[in-house]
Amino acid sequence: MRKEVKLQSGGYPMPVLIVAAYDENKKVELMNAAWGMACGSDKIALFISSGHKTTQTILKSKAFSVSIASEETMVPADFVGIATGNTMADKFARSGLTAVPGGKNGAPVIEEFPVCYECELLEEANTENIHCIVGKILGVTADEKVLGDDGQVDPDKVHPLIFDQFKLDYYKLGGKAGTAWNAGKALME
Ligand SMILES: Cc1cc2nc3c(=O)[nH]c(=O)nc-3n(C[C@H](O)[C@H](O)[C@H](O)COP(=O)(O)O)c2cc1C
Repeated sequence: MRKEVKLQSGGYPMPVLIVAAYDENKKVELMNAAWGMACGSDKIALFISSGHKTTQTILKSKAFSVSIASEETMVPADFVGIATGNTMADKFARSGLTAVPGGKNGAPVIEEFPVCYECELLEEANTENIHCIVGKILGVTADEKVLGDDGQVDPDKVHPLIFDQFKLDYYKLGGKAGTAWNAGKALME
């Protein structure tokens, strides 16, 4: 038997992405964004409101980064989703995070987050139903602590935070369940 539950748009897993850009004075503006996802193999789409200080900063600088928040960085990750640079001038300083300009287009790479996508702004879509920015990924860097023996990012080491829209909680990744493009092969025969 199925029951109707609270209307929500997101499925599982929703990520906890930290979007950041430098303003004209090299101050970092950043925010938490769970409504974001891969868009093709080398682009990211972020559904972020136009009024956010971070959004306004990205639209001016055209260079931004998207980081994956981890269990270990949950407190500052949530803080940057509560506080706004529109009214808190020292938001980044208060977060306790540190940033360096990335090697691709100088977007801020926040050192505490395990994986970072350095992006250039490709497009802003602003229609009746969406406000979205699309970034081209110029490069991806990861803390070497989260790399496996094969040199690739290991999700068991990243400890990514998962956002749950039903309860508005953060969850942990539960581990590998199977191999993609493979788990269903038996039904092909
Ligand atoms: C878990 C979480 C997820 C969020 N996801 C989004 C999102 O996808 N899009 C958005 O516009 N705002 C999102 N927000 C809200 C912004 O992060 C928040 O309004 C923030 O204060 C904006 O900061 P800024 O004005 O300094 O840029 C989220 C907040 C939290 C806590």
